[in-house]
Amino acid sequence: MRKMKLNVYFLLVALPVVLASALTPTRQGKTCTISPLGGGQDDTDQVLDAISKCGKGGHTVLLPGDYIITRKMTWDLQDATVDIWGYLDFQPDIQYWLNANNTYRVVFVQSQASWFVLTGSDFTVDAHNSGGIKGNGQLWWEYYTSHVKADGDGRPISLTVYQAKRAAIRGFRIESPPFWSNCVAESSDITYDGMFVNATNTNSTFFGKNIVPNTDGINTFRSNNINLFNWDITCGDDCLAIKGNSTNIHASNYTCRGGNGVAFGSLGQYVDLPDYVENVLLEYFTMTRISHDAQPNMGSGVYFKTWTGVSVGLPPTGGGGGTGQVKNVVCRDFSLNLVDRPVHVYQTNGGNSSELQSSLQFADLSFSNWYGTADTNRVIDIECSPNAPCPDIAFKDFNIHLVPSNLTARYTCINVVSEAGIPGPCNATT
Ligand SMILES: *[C@@H]1O[C@H](CO)[C@@H](O)[C@H](O)[C@H]1NC(C)=O
Ligand SMILES: *[C@@H]1O[C@H](CO)[C@@H](O)[C@H](O)[C@H]1NC(C)=O
Ligand SMILES: *[C@@H]1O[C@H](CO)[C@@H](O)[C@H](O)[C@H]1NC(C)=O
Ligand SMILES: *[C@@H]1O[C@H](CO)[C@@H](O)[C@H](O)[C@H]1NC(C)=O
Ligand SMILES: *[C@@H]1O[C@H](CO)[C@@H](O)[C@H](O)[C@H]1NC(C)=O
Ligand SMILES: *[C@@H]1O[C@H](CO)[C@@H](O)[C@H](O)[C@H]1NC(C)=O
Ligand SMILES: *[C@@H]1O[C@H](CO)[C@@H](O)[C@H](O)[C@H]1NC(C)=O
Repeated sequence: MRKMKLNVYFLLVALPVVLASALTPTRQGKTCTISPLGGGQDDTDQVLDAISKCGKGGHTVLLPGDYIITRKMTWDLQDATVDIWGYLDFQPDIQYWLNANNTYRVVFVQSQASWFVLTGSDFTVDAHNSGGIKGNGQLWWEYYTSHVKADGDGRPISLTVYQAKRAAIRGFRIESPPFWSNCVAESSDITYDGMFVNATNTNSTFFGKNIVPNTDGINTFRSNNINLFNWDITCGDDCLAIKGNSTNIHASNYTCRGGNGVAFGSLGQYVDLPDYVENVLLEYFTMTRISHDAQPNMGSGVYFKTWTGVSVGLPPTGGGGGTGQVKNVVCRDFSLNLVDRPVHVYQTNGGNSSELQSSLQFADLSFSNWYGTADTNRVIDIECSPNAPCPDIAFKDFNIHLVPSNLTARYTCINVVSEAGIPGPCNATT
């Protein structure tokens, strides 16, 4: 028992530290240290100055306090360390940010906008669990209770890691993101160790409604070797969304409070760009329903979704018809609290059943040591496309209790080639 504990300790705590310290640059050149100007003054210039002086081969320190940020920023870091003890406070001038000239469009998928981009190589950004980003999302969320929102409409991603290599983001907090809190795109060998996100409406007019959709914890896209360790996400959408061409993704010790759960997708949105997702390990996850006033949804443990096999409209809002494959996904040690659909696969996003079905395939998915509760009877619902039936779906030690306990669990397997370990008969009807 003791030995076992030590091993788990090594995997969860020691190994990430070993990996992350390997990423810490050894060369320490100049140091630039700044404090907030205060009095409502704009800090954007002094932050960018510090990064341009010390962001290559140096060390930048942002002392505690709120840094007022009024325009988009890219930090191009090479062989550098940044310590953030305070918050980058992105001012909520909604119309300013929605003007496409005032954000970056580096995230190709769904043409999403970014107000803050980290790029470069061999760097560490450490916010020491005491700083990060204030997104001032409350005003944005309320604005969108009476305006139409759509993918690619310009709502900014809070922290974008783009075309970065060998980097670590540590102890980082994102308070009230207007939209996705994180995205890692076109990057490799990135470790996030300690990420806290809280997208919670505080206006009582909207208690019990999810006015914080799209506040995803992170979207991964066109990236390889991404570690997501020690995350704590309160949001109204996917706490982790794995999009096209994400490979070798390892997430461990990840708490999702409310929202939709972990998503693979949506995939197959781009008819001309196949999506490949391979080698994903998700372990030690907790999905927990929170107060209904704060966030009414707790959708899934893990769900997988593709567009249909036809392209209807164009991205960012329409799409479909894209091909590809998701394979070798391990989801183990999941604790659920009152989740609606623990495991769900569907291939009809953005379409209807009369359309050509998707040919993007899900293969080799395993779910082991799942425990806790679901609050509907749709415990396992796997609805694969007839054009891409799912092989090698495996369950082991899957013990989800239903609340109320007089519900009878339903298991659905449609177009599943081979499955093992589902705790009851898996029917081919919904
Ligand atoms: C964006 O910038 C371009 C070039 O300066 C300008 O022509 C265009 O009007 C601007 N767009 C908006 C929405 O302000
Ligand atoms: C998130 O923010 C809400 C509103 O401020 C707060 O009540 C809640 O405790 C926060 N969640 C966490 C996990 O800190
Ligand atoms: C809550 O939202 C309502 C409706 O948009 C608005 O009228 C009210 O001022 C908001 N309350 C606070 C405290 O901001
Ligand atoms: C899991 O992550 C939380 C932060 O979300 C951290 O406080 C806790 O120490 C981590 N647990 C382990 C075993 O590392
Ligand atoms: C994914 O990678 C493949 C090459 O392996 C490429 O053909 C495809 O266009 C990429 N898809 C996306 C969405 O970038
Ligand atoms: C289903 O999709 C087809 C093809 O895109 C479309 O013509 C039809 O109107 C759709 N039907 C419904 C009920 O949405
Ligand atoms: C199941 O339990 C719930 C709450 O305990 C109760 O309201 C409901 O009537 C029960 N349903 C059946 C079919 O017994």
